Amino acid sequence: MTNNPSIDFYNNPELKFSGDIPTGRTGWRSPSNIALVKYWGKKPVQIPQNPSVSFTLSRSYTETLVEYSPAGHEGMEVTFYFDGKPNDEFGRKTKTFFENLKNIFPFLDQLKFTILSKNTFPHSAGIASSASGMSALALALCDMEQKYFNTLSREEDFFQKASYIARLGSGSASRSVYGGLTIWGQTEALPGTSDLYACPVTSGIHPDFLSYQDSILLVDTGQKKVSSRVGHGLMDKNPFAKQRFGQARENIKSLLNAMTSGDIETFINITESEALTLHAMMMTSNPYYLLLKPNTLNIIERIFDFRNFKNIPVSFTLDAGPNVHLLYPDGYKSRVMPFIENELAPFLSHNGYIDDEVGNGPEKLMKD
Ligand code: PMV
Repeated sequence: MTNNPSIDFYNNPELKFSGDIPTGRTGWRSPSNIALVKYWGKKPVQIPQNPSVSFTLSRSYTETLVEYSPAGHEGMEVTFYFDGKPNDEFGRKTKTFFENLKNIFPFLDQLKFTILSKNTFPHSAGIASSASGMSALALALCDMEQKYFNTLSREEDFFQKASYIARLGSGSASRSVYGGLTIWGQTEALPGTSDLYACPVTSGIHPDFLSYQDSILLVDTGQKKVSSRVGHGLMDKNPFAKQRFGQARENIKSLLNAMTSGDIETFINITESEALTLHAMMMTSNPYYLLLKPNTLNIIERIFDFRNFKNIPVSFTLDAGPNVHLLYPDGYKSRVMPFIENELAPFLSHNGYIDDEVGNGPEKLMKD
């Protein structure tokens, strides 16, 4: 892959129906992801201030069915159902997203949409539902482009464009269109990386990291008080921003080296430092804010102790919320599960935890 995509992502006036406007449907299952080196801070339009790298998850995903038919006089319409119920807020957001994509997919204006979507994980559980949701929608739109205009028949073009479109909906969603380990943002660590779309790391990773486990410990599943959009914006004036972006650029190189050689100690050191730095950026923004909860810290302390006393390489990372992602190689699962059930359970909300792991990426739900 190159930084100059082989297809023109921006301006495709030919992607418009000239004859009959079709009725049809497409559906995608797309997973969430958890960043190891975090994206926090951006430039217009959805360009990251530093590269990020994530594990795509397996069992935390969104399934989205997109039904379309010819638009009426009013032009494009979107009706959205979430978990089987009409959801006007998601409908409005999706319509705005589609409106902003009209230059890229002129056919959008010729259609009306009914979108049915559901997540396998609790809504607002602090798992990036925007990553799975936006990537599922982006894949569905690229699927329509390929079906009616046959412009994305090369698999790498299809997924590169889906990643580009997903990025415009939510930066982290760009990484969810690929399985395994995925990088978004230009970095010397991997040739072909770009700020415009994510790239999968397809070779060289030590086998220990290909089946890594992520038990998502749900401390608090309430809606977070400060959105990621606002958090990214506050980085523009954060006094530590420049050092932070430089640190992330170095961390991604060191992390990939460690993941190539199988150096779990360095992996733990970088991922935990990244998690705490993400929250340190929130605490040092103006206005400052705090998304961690007392039980987040209780769990982190137990993880440190368990690792030190039992010599088991468990570690944690955090997203923009209080829930803790407990990371470990799958060979340790039988010893980590009792740790969660016995020692960590008192700190979890009634939703408990989600037993997830690195996954293979999105899947199309139906054949054409
Ligand atoms: O994709 P956004 O705009 O919701 O930002 C997500 C940022 C983090 O989840 C905190 C980190 C990341 O890289 O996924």
